[in-house]
Amino acid sequence: MTPVSGSHFSIFDANFLKFSYRFTQKTNFTDKEALYPHQNLSYLLQFFTSSNLFRSNQLEEQKLSQSYQVAILGATGAVGTELISLLEERNFPVANLKLLSSPRSAGKTLSFRGEPVTVEAVGDRSFDGVDLVLASAGGSVSKAWAKAIVEAGAVMVDNSSAFRMDPHVPLIIPEINPEAAHDHQGIIANPNCTTILMAIAVWPLHTIQPVRRILAATYQSASGAGALAMEEVKAQAQAILNDEAVPTEYFPYPLAFNVFPHNSPLDDQGYCQEEMKMVNETHKIFGDSSLKIKATCIRVPVLRAHSEAVTLEFDAPFDLGAARQALQQAPGVKFVEDWEQNYFPMPLDASGQDDVLVGRIRHDISNPCGLELWLSGDQIRKGAALNTVQIAELLAERELLRTSSRETVGTR
Ligand SMILES: NC(=O)c1ccc[n+]([C@@H]2O[C@H](COP(=O)([O-])OP(=O)(O)OC[C@H]3O[C@@H](n4cnc5c(N)ncnc54)[C@H](OP(=O)(O)O)[C@@H]3O)[C@@H](O)[C@H]2O)c1
Repeated sequence: MTPVSGSHFSIFDANFLKFSYRFTQKTNFTDKEALYPHQNLSYLLQFFTSSNLFRSNQLEEQKLSQSYQVAILGATGAVGTELISLLEERNFPVANLKLLSSPRSAGKTLSFRGEPVTVEAVGDRSFDGVDLVLASAGGSVSKAWAKAIVEAGAVMVDNSSAFRMDPHVPLIIPEINPEAAHDHQGIIANPNCTTILMAIAVWPLHTIQPVRRILAATYQSASGAGALAMEEVKAQAQAILNDEAVPTEYFPYPLAFNVFPHNSPLDDQGYCQEEMKMVNETHKIFGDSSLKIKATCIRVPVLRAHSEAVTLEFDAPFDLGAARQALQQAPGVKFVEDWEQNYFPMPLDASGQDDVLVGRIRHDISNPCGLELWLSGDQIRKGAALNTVQIAELLAERELLRTSSRETVGTR
């Protein structure tokens, strides 16, 4: 393979990690496989031949010379600004970047690759010639513009919940179900942040021994409700310390020095939308609607990064060593455990990190087939913007974006 640089390094790097991960997951060979080592070899060859690592050099060189017209819808928000940073940081092949918002932020200037880009109010001609739209402006905005985006020939990777459960829309975590990208019809949905963080930690265990039931409790930060909600919590803390009236524009109650159940609408069973997203989206991503899942979602006065306490139930006891090894090797996971120091994942440590921090693995003392874990993950990065950019990289790598308006890298 020729040395790779720039944007494609991250793509190949991710492939290699995925390959290594899948192979290491296969270390729990069955007795039959252990008896017939050539079958392990054929497994290895199968991954090598299906891996993009071994595509022709010519194709890779051709892809390196191409880039895409990209638009971010919701560019000024918590997720939007992170998308801009990640496109730059991961050197995604952007020929031109268009930043779109509501009229409120039109004219504002943001920076991309050290150059100013003026934010435009989204309008009828916004998607002309655009290849890829990364949408993070909320469900109603995504619904309002999806048709125009697809008709303009662009692929939309959407952060909102608008299309996640649409059977024609793939719902993707690249570490788990990248193949679903091939079924896209113009829209790909990014899962809910709490779902992504939980799925990234559970999937490596599920591939060793199928999980039958997941019980989750979340501890969700203020920024999960947007950039302005995070500012509101800071203002609330200041107001409480100053003994002043506490502002509650973005949250129904003061969140500073407080905790309350997630404020999304409740259903007849008493579950809020956020909780049911974790159930329904995990079913779709894992491709298994028989998996029993329940969640309790709680907002906590943390500025950034969500945490989750997750209890897993299996058909048989899960070996703790095997669980730790699987999580240490899993892509997208950083294993964090120091039992002597009582040091485990924390949102402060997870903030700004790509990996989901997972640790405090222990058996459930109330269930011999139960396993417990604790995680913290930056929900603006892996829970939203990073996963979106990883989907974009997947689309570029597998040539699932249109080619008509590609330009040579460096022409922006
Ligand atoms: N925050 C998270 O942790 C997180 C995680 C996962 C998924 N998400 C999802 O990502 C989406 C964005 O969330 P966020 O937290 O980034 O929200 P946010 O900070 O409130 O940002 C919202 C963005 O949407 C733009 N916008 C609002 N109304 C618009 C309109 N009518 N037309 C065009 N643009 C409009 C805003 O532009 P203005 O500056 O002009 O108002 C802003 O750029 C939501 O669907 C959310 O559920 C968020």
